[in-house]
Amino acid sequence: MTILVTGGRGHVARAVVARLLEHGHEPRVASRQPDATGAPAGVELVEADLTRPETFRAALEGVSKVFLYAEPKGIAGFLDEAGRAGVEHVVLLSASPVTSADPDRNPLARMHRSAERALIDSGLPWTFLRPATFATNALQWTWSIRAEGVVRAAYPEAHNDAIHEADIAEVAVRALTEPGHVGRAHLMTGPESLTQRRQVELIGKAIGREVEFVEQTPAEYRATLDQWSNGELTDQLLRYLSDNDGVPVPVINTVELVTGRPARTFEQWALDHAADFS
Ligand SMILES: NC(=O)c1ccc[n+]([C@@H]2O[C@H](COP(=O)([O-])OP(=O)(O)OC[C@H]3O[C@@H](n4cnc5c(N)ncnc54)[C@H](OP(=O)(O)O)[C@@H]3O)[C@@H](O)[C@H]2O)c1
Repeated sequence: MTILVTGGRGHVARAVVARLLEHGHEPRVASRQPDATGAPAGVELVEADLTRPETFRAALEGVSKVFLYAEPKGIAGFLDEAGRAGVEHVVLLSASPVTSADPDRNPLARMHRSAERALIDSGLPWTFLRPATFATNALQWTWSIRAEGVVRAAYPEAHNDAIHEADIAEVAVRALTEPGHVGRAHLMTGPESLTQRRQVELIGKAIGREVEFVEQTPAEYRATLDQWSNGELTDQLLRYLSDNDGVPVPVINTVELVTGRPARTFEQWALDHAADFS
């Protein structure tokens, strides 16, 4: 059984590849830059870009299962080719906001809903992974922590339910390799609701030095975010932080239900990524 893992350079894809190898599978890893995936020697690498249909056929030849990123531009064509290649199951990395009360207001929810819709319309058997906030979002703080030992952001008391990429990957691998996941959507979170301030403290603990949270006003933080995000995405992020300012967010035990093991804590995530912040 050949399992194709798309988006090979991504945090979740790399964790999926690591776990497939641990479980004795031989994944084929696809990326726009296959040489930069960091996959161990001997792993089959292939170029695939969801916006370049000419890359689809070689990537999908002989593949029975696919772990897929939600790049909406080319997904329908990719899925058509997957159907022709005989793919039996696609596990899509979606996102929890697709289930929000007003998803059309949220650009991430719109993008992921459109990818989920394309997969349903393709007729291929599907599983949706709908994780909430990624713990890897904290990697945005690496530069200022390394350079100055500080994090500058707004809403230090805003909560999130950060999930470790290894847990998303564990659920993905179960869905790809065990029965019972076709037609199911796995909404999942980390195991606890933590404030941004507490997450920064835990990163400091992991690297063995204090990290100061320097509170910015929402306007100051918006100026920072606008350097790498578009206006609508920035609005959404600031709305999320403001809505959850001092408000714990719900957590769900999907990771434990699917894998039989509790989801990893943010403290564990910070230890696993200490080198990124040091
Ligand atoms: N951050 C969050 O809190 C959060 C929460 C829920 C869901 N999500 C979703 O999770 C995904 C990001 O996951 P991540 O953190 O693992 O990724 P990442 O580390 O940010 O890397 C981006 C990934 O997207 C892939 N990609 C981008 N354009 C592509 C294209 N044209 N064709 C094929 N692949 C393409 C890249 O593949 P290559 O560069 O290898 O080609 C890479 O794997 C996004 O869809 C995001 O909306 C994020």
